[in-house]
Amino acid sequence: MRRYSPDITIMLNAVRKASKHIIRDFGELEHLQVSVKGQNDFVTNVDLKVQEIIYRELSKARPDYGFIMEEGQSEKLSSKNIWIIDPIDGTLNFMHGLPYFSISIAIKSNDKIIAGIIYNPVQNEFYWAEEGIGAFLNDQRLRVSARQSLDQSLIALGIPFLGRKNHKSHLKMQASVMKKVAGLRRFGAASLDLALVAAGRVDGFWEEGLSIWDIAAGVILVREAGGLVSGIKKNEDPLISGNIVAGNPKIVQALQKVLAT
Ligand code: 2AM
Ligand code: CA
Repeated sequence: MRRYSPDITIMLNAVRKASKHIIRDFGELEHLQVSVKGQNDFVTNVDLKVQEIIYRELSKARPDYGFIMEEGQSEKLSSKNIWIIDPIDGTLNFMHGLPYFSISIAIKSNDKIIAGIIYNPVQNEFYWAEEGIGAFLNDQRLRVSARQSLDQSLIALGIPFLGRKNHKSHLKMQASVMKKVAGLRRFGAASLDLALVAAGRVDGFWEEGLSIWDIAAGVILVREAGGLVSGIKKNEDPLISGNIVAGNPKIVQALQKVLAT
């Protein structure tokens, strides 16, 4: 059994506590005979409850850390260390009874992500990474895939959803990549997509317009698994632009080249 660092242990305990509620509410959804509005409210409440549990646990353990959270106000942003929290990443999957969603937490220290965890409560998969220590799935060390060419690669992507303005430009990008790769997959939770890259289960991932809480933990997972995380344009920072490409260095370069055309 691997000994987790204090910060990883704190995050793990917080997500374990919160995930009991998620699992129960996920089961509940099946029996919920309510309107779409009722369903939206239900999921919003789960989101808020999960965030509240995590917020309470983390602030108890580390009173001086700041917070950036998907469902709430940021706090103490001048602190050296900031928790970045997505209480449910993949909310639309959750709402539709698809067991592909996560709780994602990262620590940003002096503008650098130094630790992160991504937990899929249904599959009980606990991905975590810490700077200089490595990336892991439960206790097993992770390594990005070694495939060197797009034609052998399985690539995960995000597709812009309702209300986004980039549907047309996305379809052009998707068409270019589709012609070059072995296959494309759209799973619906960016944090877990990055975890799949870290685990070498998919060879690469790209998406536009994400928020920092969707990707902060995934960024360190991929890097500690020997991968590269970059922008869609080479010199953009995905934590700022929200546009991300991840994989081993060769695949990232190849994807960036195709996406640029
Ligand atoms: P969320 O579930 O936390 O909102 C996938 O494209 C990424 O976009 C997910 O990480 C998801 O995070 C986010 N997203 C936001 N709104 C979405 C929507 N309506 N459909 C799919 N993904 C959405
Ligand atoms: Ca999210």
